[in-house]
Amino acid sequence: MPATATERARVFFALWPGEQVRTRIVEATARPLAGLPGRPVPAANLHLTLAFLHSVEQTRLPVLAEVAEALVLPPMTLVLDRWGFFAGPRVLWLGPEAIPESLGAFEQRLWEALAPLGFRREHGRFHPHVTVRRKAVSAPAKPPEPVSWPVTDWALVQSRPGQIGSMYTPLAQWPVRH
Ligand code: 2AM
Repeated sequence: MPATATERARVFFALWPGEQVRTRIVEATARPLAGLPGRPVPAANLHLTLAFLHSVEQTRLPVLAEVAEALVLPPMTLVLDRWGFFAGPRVLWLGPEAIPESLGAFEQRLWEALAPLGFRREHGRFHPHVTVRRKAVSAPAKPPEPVSWPVTDWALVQSRPGQIGSMYTPLAQWPVRH
């Protein structure tokens, strides 16, 4: 055994909203969820995961960023207009009823680019969602006030354990482009 363990990082690729969209999501969710069980996701942590990679060796991060750099995420606007609830992890989320074709296509291209590095998508289908509450019990019956998200950036993000849950830090970020 080596004297020191290889440093690892828990990372994922995600659409990364700007401050305005973060604020809009917080505003659209605060009232409908007031008084309901669950822990709100802090505004700074809101994102839409494209590919979760688990824990990877830190030395591989530059290659991941290089692979991502070559991909083109076209501009698109997401309309977050539905609630969803994953009963297993007890996650309450906001998502788009209409998933832009370009988003699904990009998620697929990303996984294709990651495959030669040994990463595989584990779930069968892409369910684009922004988790807004953890340890929730259900989704509200009434649809949310839609949040329009003109996507500007995507990022390679590191997840670190914090005092009040995970904290997410973008390690590299790319703007949408044609
Ligand atoms: P969640 O919001 O639905 O929990 C950082 O943890 C991000 O990666 C979150 O968006 C989280 O999704 C997602 N994530 C965590 N574990 C995952 C897994 N095993 N498979 C897919 N996505 C995961």
